[in-house]
Amino acid sequence: TAKHSAPPNLKHFLKDDDLTVVQQAEVLDLAAKMKADRYAYPALAGPKSVAVVFEKPSTRTRLSFDIGIAELGGHSVVIDAQSTQLGRGETVADTARVLSRYVSAIVIRTFGDDRIEELAANATVPVVNALTDGWHPCQLLADLQTIAEHKPLKGTSIAYLGDAAFNMGNSTVIACSMAGMHVRVGAPEGYQPAPEVLARASAINTSTGGSVVVTEDPVEAVSGADVVSTDAWVSMGMADSEKRIGELTPYQLNGALLDHAADDAIVLHCLPAHRGEEITDEVMDGPHSRVFDQAENRLHAQKALLAWLLKER
Ligand code: CP
Ligand code: NVA
Repeated sequence: TAKHSAPPNLKHFLKDDDLTVVQQAEVLDLAAKMKADRYAYPALAGPKSVAVVFEKPSTRTRLSFDIGIAELGGHSVVIDAQSTQLGRGETVADTARVLSRYVSAIVIRTFGDDRIEELAANATVPVVNALTDGWHPCQLLADLQTIAEHKPLKGTSIAYLGDAAFNMGNSTVIACSMAGMHVRVGAPEGYQPAPEVLARASAINTSTGGSVVVTEDPVEAVSGADVVSTDAWVSMGMADSEKRIGELTPYQLNGALLDHAADDAIVLHCLPAHRGEEITDEVMDGPHSRVFDQAENRLHAQKALLAWLLKER
């Protein structure tokens, strides 16, 4: 019925460039304000309810959405898909139709992007990607917020090391291009961003002035970089871990590699870290590390995103 059809201005956040460059900047600006005045934005008061659904494990995303929704005056329903009928094979499309009758937004962490796309196609409320195989756009909002606490985003360089062909690599390339940053990917063959992702980044960079280069040489990627970021070598849902660890070992973010970055470089990692694999204790716990500010900023960035998605237009 008409009452339950999608509103014409329905907006989802399935990947980084579902926001425009201007909208990304607006959300980041709101996130900084929300961090400065944490309880001043009752955007979900009423209260509005938000479903937060997990098909993979999570610490930061689970906690930061749950707490963020409460701080906005809303009500969260945080569930593991395995404890719902999704775990017994109810379709994503039917789940989207049902949840849309209860909540004002659906946040989901799942596997293939086809699943979240099917959810969004059948939902009449905004759908937010809390990590898929392809993208981790909420993480990149927090990463950009963290970088902006140290340097202007436009013109700043970021080296991204290791597995650049999965969610964090893809989202880093796209979200940082949108922010006008210079991205240097240091990854071996087989772990570099797909041609479609690089083509999308180039299209974005013609208007933002950003850039992306891909190199197999980790030192070249890191040399002079203002920000150095990495992620797990074996992501959730991946097998063949020994092969991956072997192939990615030259890209470990350790003190010797970090020495090639700018003197005031900051280090990011979305966490959880596999200390001694993609990042050493020395770097995680060292003076350049901002990984716990970055984890905190998930809270502020997602509050801003939800407030922005759910505001009356
Ligand atoms: N960075 C991140 O998404 O962490 P969780 O898997 O703990 O949510
Ligand atoms: N690439 C990692 C990110 C975890 C937050 C994974 O997908 O497991």
